[in-house]
Amino acid sequence: MSHGVAPSILSADFGNLAHDIEMLNKSQADWIHFDIMDGVFVPNISFGFPVLKAVKKIAQKPLDVHLMITEPDHYIEQFAQAGASVLTVHYEACKHLHRTISQIKSLGLKAGVSLNPHTPVFLLQEIISELDLVLIMSVNPGFGGQSFIENSYKKIAELKTLIEKNQSKCLIEVDGGVDLNNYKKLVQAGVNMLVAGNTVFASENRIKTIEKLKEA
Ligand code: DX5
Ligand code: ZN
Repeated sequence: MSHGVAPSILSADFGNLAHDIEMLNKSQADWIHFDIMDGVFVPNISFGFPVLKAVKKIAQKPLDVHLMITEPDHYIEQFAQAGASVLTVHYEACKHLHRTISQIKSLGLKAGVSLNPHTPVFLLQEIISELDLVLIMSVNPGFGGQSFIENSYKKIAELKTLIEKNQSKCLIEVDGGVDLNNYKKLVQAGVNMLVAGNTVFASENRIKTIEKLKEA
């Protein structure tokens, strides 16, 4: 199975967001990654429903929504209505993860769980067969443009083993510090979906950068 690329609009130009979304529409990007931050779960605040709804109107790719918020259960329906196709919650933010995942799936969305760099993969062993996606955070969440944490390769390998052992169809997504030097190694390790913010949006030719990230 070939891998996908999900550019993160956290690094886009918010003064010209429509222009950047049109660029992604024309590119080989598979999904558009949305980082929702509440200033409590992570030390930063990003954007919310109005931005998601506006992008949904013009985006021609599925919206991959990464919730870095506490109590995500309160907002799942609203994110579904705003146009999310994939909804990922943080393991660390959910008291009743199974219920949260069931709720996301009952609304017809793909359900994902994200793990912070310090959270071990084995904590997902009882729920892996229910998940559509696991997002391995390869930086501490909150900001774009940080350096990749090398221990993430070990976690990706452990996750791949856990998925195979349970015959789960769950995808592996990696988020944070993905660049043109490490993406191939990540794909070889088993990553199905690469999130890239700074690498795409700070590059001179964004379309070309996405094309490179898609190369096997
Ligand atoms: C970080 C976010 C990432 C971020 C990645 O908290 O979850 O999606 O946008 O940015 P880069 O690719 O610049 O590390
Ligand atoms: Zn993200």
